[in-house]
Amino acid sequence: MPLSRRNVLGAALLAGTATLLPARAHAASDRVEALIARMTLAEKAGQLSCFNDEVRPVGAVFNPVVDPRGGEAMLADIRAGRIGMLFNGYGVAGARRAQEAALAGRLRIPLVFAADVLHGCRTIFPIPLAEAAAFDADLSERAARAVACETAAGGLHWTFAPMVDVARDQRWGRVAEGAGEDVLLNRLLAAARVRGFQGSDLRRADALLATPKHFVGYGAVRGGMEYAAVDMSAAELRETFLPPFLDAFAAGAGATMASFTDFGGVPVSANRPLLTDLLRGELGFQGVCVSDYDADRELIAHGIAADEADAARLAILAGIDMSMQSGLFVRHLPALVESGRVPVAAVDQAVRRVLTLKERLGLFNDPFRSIDARAERRETGSVAIKRMARKVATRSIVLLRNDGDLLPLPRAGKRIALIGPFGADKANLNGPWSFAGDAKDGIDVASGLRGVMADPALLTVEAGSGVTEPLPGGTARAVAAAQAADVVLLAIGEGGDMSGEGNSRTEIVVPAAQQALAEAMAATGKPVVVLLRHGRALALSGAVRDAPALLATWFLGEQTGPAVADILFGRVEPTGRLPVSFPLTSGQQPWSYDRRSTGRPPPDDQPMAPGRSHWRDAPDRALYPFGSGMGYTRFALSDLSVPAVVATGADVPVSVMVRNVGKRAGTTLVRIDLHDRVASRTRPVRQMKAFVRVTLAAGETRRIDLRIAARELALVASDGRWRVEPGAFDLWVVAGDGVEMQGAFEVR
Ligand code: BGC
Repeated sequence: MPLSRRNVLGAALLAGTATLLPARAHAASDRVEALIARMTLAEKAGQLSCFNDEVRPVGAVFNPVVDPRGGEAMLADIRAGRIGMLFNGYGVAGARRAQEAALAGRLRIPLVFAADVLHGCRTIFPIPLAEAAAFDADLSERAARAVACETAAGGLHWTFAPMVDVARDQRWGRVAEGAGEDVLLNRLLAAARVRGFQGSDLRRADALLATPKHFVGYGAVRGGMEYAAVDMSAAELRETFLPPFLDAFAAGAGATMASFTDFGGVPVSANRPLLTDLLRGELGFQGVCVSDYDADRELIAHGIAADEADAARLAILAGIDMSMQSGLFVRHLPALVESGRVPVAAVDQAVRRVLTLKERLGLFNDPFRSIDARAERRETGSVAIKRMARKVATRSIVLLRNDGDLLPLPRAGKRIALIGPFGADKANLNGPWSFAGDAKDGIDVASGLRGVMADPALLTVEAGSGVTEPLPGGTARAVAAAQAADVVLLAIGEGGDMSGEGNSRTEIVVPAAQQALAEAMAATGKPVVVLLRHGRALALSGAVRDAPALLATWFLGEQTGPAVADILFGRVEPTGRLPVSFPLTSGQQPWSYDRRSTGRPPPDDQPMAPGRSHWRDAPDRALYPFGSGMGYTRFALSDLSVPAVVATGADVPVSVMVRNVGKRAGTTLVRIDLHDRVASRTRPVRQMKAFVRVTLAAGETRRIDLRIAARELALVASDGRWRVEPGAFDLWVVAGDGVEMQGAFEVR
């Protein structure tokens, strides 16, 4: 299927992004053009090069150390015009030193400062996957705005976020960084996070330029293995992996980052059809495309480039504007241009984009924007940002099981045994990419519980096990504590370093030592509430799967303890829903609720029917599919109304009565899934097309009206075009596990 301009134009129109497609590229400002005219080739190559900030290191090491040079040498290189951007440094004092060095250079071009701020800068928020469980674009936008204010106040202008890679294979460690397996949720949160980071005006001191990444398809690495190859149909690319980028670009994102994976045999860093024909020509993206870390040099290891100069040539010609950390552009571009192997126009175009980005951020007018010690003191760890972090953490928790209404717990009168390596532990609260966070600032589960319990003396805490290794005598102490308690809270799961980049797993299970601890807790006969910690969906088994109560608590960041306590004691209703499906077993991966129909689907009531689609030892089902989760009350649906016939191109109005049939006020997510019955290409068995949060008092009933936008009915047809095909659609309205109504309509 050709990637024609018309195809994507169709996609863009369907996604409401037509404004992304100007007839011709924006011209740069006179200032930028005048600068380019004065620049030497070496100075141009310098602007296209960025390096890990050694002037003001953040402390944590996020990437393999490549060619370190030390702070003083870095300042000298900045003065000499050999660096255009620094990343992953932090703090206003160091930013000032670096910016002064840049302004002492011949052309006085300011530096721009970037960082991997994915879920908080100094105050760490829940990992993005956890935040996605809130199913709330408005909340994600407000969270990103709060994070941007703190980040920019630390002397930063640009974040390498949001990560918008759709992730259907839970073995892949980077699932933690994004919004999970669903396309619509990824789209809405991509746009919300871009709006939140960037704010209303990029020139403001609290604006943070956003970088939806990694363009494109990284989430489909083969076998879920980090850095592995990606191969997919053009339709899969357009229907699943591109849409979040389209929405993020439409929201105004100023940059994107190329994936460092191989895509269809050509690593993206050298993939001109993707980075130029698609990203620029068809999507009309005007911002900066930065390489991933050392990714141009990695073209040599990929076996695509013969040497460093060749790698630099391939990358710039493919459409990489800025080379990250390898230094390949600054070292090789001048000679490549002089020898005629790279046209100067390609270099000028990249420089134009980088300087325009600096101009959009207001750096030419005020190179010291966001470098203000008073703002840094005011915004860093402020009361407001901590409050926001707690709110998001509370909203991220998903209640997956609650037999006999074990939860919420009463605040008084119960003896609680908090068991597990994550009960009184601050080292594993934050998860991957917790940029300038300090684990010491985190509030662990035990402290959170004590803050709410009427009598904190009723809490006993026992680790019982390490994260991966048993503790000598740990199980015995944990059993004794459980036996003396009325209820066991079991804080188990993945350690903070078990997900994120470079942390793919083949078995996505609770580590064996902790599983054994869980079995010992179940054997005590005490009611067990599992507080699961994780950066991905896990395959649960035995006593963990069968515990009467189960909360998915992800990596919630600094405010973990208060958030968990808010939910456990019912101060806040759990309203999270799973953005990723929890499988029955690791071997089902990759798996998503919206997989396509097979020719031999099993009947619903006979998932293991012979000769039908399933594994020998597992059905084609999840333990907890996408969207699972409940609150402390129950809801019912009635009176579904869907038009029998809908005109092609028209929205579909859907209306349903929602009733809170429980004894407490509560909030549920009402969502609509669709299935296109007969189409020119096989369709997802069902896929979410709209959702809304509904809050009702006990006993209250309300009619809810939802609209499915016309574009949500479209598919990339066999001829490669986005189109709504006439015919019947099945529709489900879902308001909780097992609370569902079915309807249908026909598009004519
Ligand atoms: C990651 C990127 C990140 C970059 C800079 C890479 O290893 O893939 O997501 O932005 O490092 O730290």
